[in-house]
Amino acid sequence: MDNRPIGVFDSGLGGLTGVRELRKRLPSENIVYFGDTGRVPYGSRSPETILQYARQDIAFLLSQNVKCIMAACGTVSSIYPAAEAEALPVPFLGVVAAAAREAAFLTRSRRIGVIGTAATIRSRSYETLLRRLVPGAEIATQACPLFVPLVEAGYVDGSAPEHQQITRLVIEQYLAGIREAGVDTLILGCTHYPLIKGMIGEYMGPQVALVDPGQAAAHHLEQLLGEKGLRASRPEGQAHYYVSDTPDSFAQTADLFLGEYRGGKVEQIAID
Ligand code: SIN
Repeated sequence: MDNRPIGVFDSGLGGLTGVRELRKRLPSENIVYFGDTGRVPYGSRSPETILQYARQDIAFLLSQNVKCIMAACGTVSSIYPAAEAEALPVPFLGVVAAAAREAAFLTRSRRIGVIGTAATIRSRSYETLLRRLVPGAEIATQACPLFVPLVEAGYVDGSAPEHQQITRLVIEQYLAGIREAGVDTLILGCTHYPLIKGMIGEYMGPQVALVDPGQAAAHHLEQLLGEKGLRASRPEGQAHYYVSDTPDSFAQTADLFLGEYRGGKVEQIAID
């Protein structure tokens, strides 16, 4: 048993889709979330800058005495070196490994699509893992740099029809090649994308399974904490949110990501 909090970080608010899942699966856990809202997006930056930001984010969570760290950012998970993760004083889990594992489990045809930020797709992190997990896999990838700003602006499933219309046009533009490739499984390789999962699903069709990376990582983390005897024991856990930009924008958008699991203190910190 371990009552220290779980640490979760993301470049912005997308990682809250992972927090929602953690709160659903592990209601006794305290969660410390850091969203680097002052520097989002990471996905269009150089690997050196992303790594520098990731190290600062991790150092902050460690200063909060967390018992494990979930990198709920596809971009960081794609480029953070495995050796560095292993050298951390607490277990580290990225969304890429969890989502790749789930896609490997779901695919029947071995045709898998991956969408993500420019940095995630350029890193080939998903391809490397999927080729190991699914021998003979055919993998179609596509960078979707406009999805994160659209989601952060609230142009998501269930928003005003004219907003959804714009998102649908962008989806069509980005995903035409992936649909053409006839994949049966599509990894939404960024934790922002589950907010437009409904529209992506409509475009891809019901025969394509969509993998939500935050959900997959939360599931993986639940198993990991159980195996290591690190689960908390208390009636109800609390969430504490830290951001690097003003908390006002967080409060406005967080509801979208957290659904009924909203609630918890929000504070601004200087990350660098
Ligand atoms: C971004 O910061 O560009 C999106 C975060 C992610 O890759 O999940």
